Amino acid sequence: MRYAVLGTGEVGRTLGGKLVELGHEVTLGSRTADNPVALEWARDAGERAGVGTFAAAASGAEVVVNAVGGRVALTALRDAGAENLAGKVLIDVCNPLAFEDGRLRLSPVESDSVGEQIQRAFPDARVVKALNTVNCRVMVAPHLVPGDHALFLCGQDPDAKELVTALLGEFGWPRGRVIDLGDIEGARAMEMLMPLWIRLFQGFGHAEFNYELRRAR
Ligand SMILES: NC(=O)c1ccc[n+]([C@@H]2O[C@H](COP(=O)([O-])OP(=O)(O)OC[C@H]3O[C@@H](n4cnc5c(N)ncnc54)[C@H](OP(=O)(O)O)[C@@H]3O)[C@@H](O)[C@H]2O)c1
Repeated sequence: MRYAVLGTGEVGRTLGGKLVELGHEVTLGSRTADNPVALEWARDAGERAGVGTFAAAASGAEVVVNAVGGRVALTALRDAGAENLAGKVLIDVCNPLAFEDGRLRLSPVESDSVGEQIQRAFPDARVVKALNTVNCRVMVAPHLVPGDHALFLCGQDPDAKELVTALLGEFGWPRGRVIDLGDIEGARAMEMLMPLWIRLFQGFGHAEFNYELRRAR
């Protein structure tokens, strides 16, 4: 499969690297075509890895991953181009966090989410919110954390969610540990886990943890 991973940060490079390792073709998207971090990533990742602008990456892809900051996601995706997202599965892993007055804050929150903003702005894209609730190393190596810990996803399109569930399986997440939260409004709940995640991170002093669900039925 041909993937565009929009974002040259730790998350984009980690997801892109794992996808290449799994045999997929990956173009890492950036605001510029010659981003040095992206070029270095592609050199290390091998022949199935490439770099390009957000638009160049998205235009050649079958599946697009949004791995930029939540506060700039709409800007990056507009740069990628609505025509390059139309009809494609768009996996949104971002969190709308930013430092405000010295504290990490989430916005939008409760009455909206970036996942919903993206689906509204690009109605022809098949947005699936996923993976934003774990650290990127855990995203692609769930065995780093012991136990039957869970991932969440949500979105409007059942077939798109099925494709993402299959991809998560390639990453090592058994189907039974992928919890479907329903339509894209579920992104509010997923993004609002961030304040809890950050508190736990501060308490544990590392990012290799996740949530495990227990239920009667
Ligand atoms: N760190 C984790 O383990 C983790 C886990 C779950 C979710 N997340 C979420 O994943 C996302 C990516 O995180 P990250 O730390 O890897 O990367 P990041 O530093 O949040 O984002 C880097 C990307 O954002 C682009 N960017 C920055 N400002 C921009 C603007 N004004 N307009 C358009 N694009 C802009 C950069 O473009 P250039 O390439 O041009 O520089 C770069 O590609 C975030 O939303 C984060 O909350 C992170």
